[in-house]
Amino acid sequence: MSTAHQSRVRTRLRKAVTAAVVGVMTAGGLVAAAGTASAQTTLAEAAAATGRYFGTAVAAGRLGEQDYTATLNREFNSITAENSWKWESLQPSPGYFDFSTADRIAEHARQQGMEIRGHTLVWHSQLPSWVQNISSPDELRQVMRNHITTVMEHYKGQVRSWDVVNEAFEDGSSGARRNSVFQRVLGDSWIEEAFYIAHEVDPDATLCYNDYNTDAWNTAKTQAVYNMVADFVSRGVPIDCVGFQAHFNSGNPVPENYHITLQNFADLGVEVQITELDIAGWGDSQAEQFGGVTLACLAVPKCTGITVWGVTDKYSWRAEDTPLLFDGNYNPKQAYYAVLDTLLNAGGGDGGDGGGGATCTVTYAETQRWGDRFNGEVTVRAGNEAIRSWSTTVTVTPPQKISATWNGEASWDTSGNVMTMRSTSGLPAGGQTTFGFTVMTNGNWAPPTLGSCVAS
Ligand code: XIL
Repeated sequence: MSTAHQSRVRTRLRKAVTAAVVGVMTAGGLVAAAGTASAQTTLAEAAAATGRYFGTAVAAGRLGEQDYTATLNREFNSITAENSWKWESLQPSPGYFDFSTADRIAEHARQQGMEIRGHTLVWHSQLPSWVQNISSPDELRQVMRNHITTVMEHYKGQVRSWDVVNEAFEDGSSGARRNSVFQRVLGDSWIEEAFYIAHEVDPDATLCYNDYNTDAWNTAKTQAVYNMVADFVSRGVPIDCVGFQAHFNSGNPVPENYHITLQNFADLGVEVQITELDIAGWGDSQAEQFGGVTLACLAVPKCTGITVWGVTDKYSWRAEDTPLLFDGNYNPKQAYYAVLDTLLNAGGGDGGDGGGGATCTVTYAETQRWGDRFNGEVTVRAGNEAIRSWSTTVTVTPPQKISATWNGEASWDTSGNVMTMRSTSGLPAGGQTTFGFTVMTNGNWAPPTLGSCVAS
């Protein structure tokens, strides 16, 4: 596992990104200099050097525009159809499939040697009304099976990852499943049924659950999706991946602990992918956030790729937010250089020296026990390089409750079972510290489980 390398890269990257962003904002000359330096490479090449893909959403209707296609072909090596692979496009009326526009995307990908993300098989939106009006479970189950099977068969062997189910959870604090026709008519089991069908059709494809507002770890929606994925993994439901749409704006900014969310999902054994990235804004603040998302993905070995939701601001689904990497004239923006430089610093890293890096490890010990509770202590050790901050999670088993903590800043998920403990006190190379907590057992004496230690 290359955790040490990734973490070391992350520290160096943070400096590099800051430098890049500052450099770019200082003077026009520096923009040109950065552009020249980076002109030898592309997002796709820089990502490939880290073992990742870099993709974009594509509208088939734009492929005739020369600058659009030139930018697409030069910078990206993965494609998602922005709309043309959705149910309303592919099967607008019962049993009538139209792959004509969708196939143009697949053909372009084939000609250019790009990977495809299949988006999306089952979703409540852009779903024709004939499906929304079905009220018989047998009929809906058959219709869902037929749609998944027909679409996946059509593209079998051509699609690296499928968004099998998209956006099945509510926003807000309920953590509930969204009230879609699938949920209403089929009940909770429809999501896993969709994955079982998809797995039957193409056992080699990476099968993803994809959603938005699942970026900050301690929110009801993130926790609900996490619990579903954990449950699927534990019961052997064939899920391979979780997609994070990552549509950000000032009301929904990139969370500071994004890499922790990604890592926690990855720790379940699934791939994580950033699937629809766009960030409202301009200039250094936008660039910094794009760099931050890239860094978060690089920090997580199982984060296998990033897709931005469009090539150019002018065709973005939220064009007024200018949320992409190229402006309306296909000029790379500061955000582009922040992403590129972040990738380049990772890919060109000194990964072979085998030592050092901003890494940490955690170990657990029970230190004291009473009739109704016990104290746990976690030792946090820095790797071969000093670290500025660390964090990890401690998960207890209900009905246990953590009643006290010391030596760290604790925060909680909505269930109260997962505590994130962090500190920005830093540690010298090889140094260690401890934090502690009291678990009220409420009759359950299971030891807590620790997440990965994440250092910067
Ligand atoms: C958006 C497209 O970009 C728009 O052109 C369309 O009008 C609506 O859908 N989550 C998803 C994407 O999974 O499919 C959505 O794409 C954006 C939100």
